[in-house]
Amino acid sequence: MANIHIPPGWRIRERDATPESAYLNRREFVKAAGAGTILAASAAACGAEGRAQTQDGRGPLDNIPDTPTASLYPEAVRDERFTIGDRHAAMSEEEVVATYNNFYEFGTDKGGVWRNVEPFEARPWELEIAGLVDNPGAFDLVELERAFPLEERIYRHRCVEAWSIVLPWIGFPLRSLLDRAGIQNRAKFVNFITFNRPEQAVGIRTQTWYRWPYYESIRIDEAMNELAFVVTGMYGHPLQKQNGAPVRIHLPWKYGYKSPKSIVLIEVTDRPGTTFWNDLQPAEYGFYSNVDPDVPHPRWSQATERIVGPDNRVPTLPFNGYGEWVADMYDGHVTPPGDVPHAS
Ligand code: MTE
Repeated sequence: MANIHIPPGWRIRERDATPESAYLNRREFVKAAGAGTILAASAAACGAEGRAQTQDGRGPLDNIPDTPTASLYPEAVRDERFTIGDRHAAMSEEEVVATYNNFYEFGTDKGGVWRNVEPFEARPWELEIAGLVDNPGAFDLVELERAFPLEERIYRHRCVEAWSIVLPWIGFPLRSLLDRAGIQNRAKFVNFITFNRPEQAVGIRTQTWYRWPYYESIRIDEAMNELAFVVTGMYGHPLQKQNGAPVRIHLPWKYGYKSPKSIVLIEVTDRPGTTFWNDLQPAEYGFYSNVDPDVPHPRWSQATERIVGPDNRVPTLPFNGYGEWVADMYDGHVTPPGDVPHAS
């Protein structure tokens, strides 16, 4: 057992792990940014890598699995309630979103995930709904894409590693799916389980210290919140494999790891599920994990975030700026008492 190596959790670049005190004096901060000491771009993660190709000529935007529902995506109607917001100057470029990924099933190198997804057979796909629901079952994803009108929502995405992107996601409310499943009165939590195919995913195959498959859990009121979104597409087309094809969750007020990719099971229960990162490193990754600028990760500040692409740094907002939708679920707290990491 002594030889088992538990690697660190989500990683940030050394130069981004600036201690909280570095952000206290804004004028100093701006000066530092002007001098280029903080905002160095990562060419490997962004544009330069994005133009690369694999040996078989596949690029980062060539990883959309074929589906008979593809023609529905350009027709998705944008929900105008959701906007880019004040901090991001523009939508993230798709090439950035497709070449800067956290998807440990395909390795931990963000710029390399898109290269590794080729063996992943992401269509056809069944999504099972189980537990405390009146209509459990395994559903063909195509059936669900046709059953619910696809809508486009511009959501910001904030990773616990203190970077963010903003993009047009396509899908349908998680609430619509749960309403159709018919949740029972005893339901209190919703658990998500991701695919587990070592033969198709190099990260599952080689990183045996992780407890595959990836799993997550949220409260039922969080799952029924207006913002909770089942994502099947982005930028007017079905999801790229590296972004969680063919179906993932997005909860824009929480850190990105609460939004599991390539899910196969949604289970409604009366007790909280465990979560992949909380099980692995309980002192670093909480159950709620609402975006909270005042609660640092033990190894870095959450007060600001780097916008991937332009690579400028902006203040982080409580609940990632979605407080008007979600704050009332947490009794006045952003990080509920007892969640970790917590302010000392
Ligand atoms: N889902 C699975 N199955 N595996 C993962 O490693 N990473 C999470 C989340 N969902 C992850 C996952 C993290 S930390 C983030 S920030 C987002 O996916 C990244 O999504 P993106 O690569 O589409 O931006």
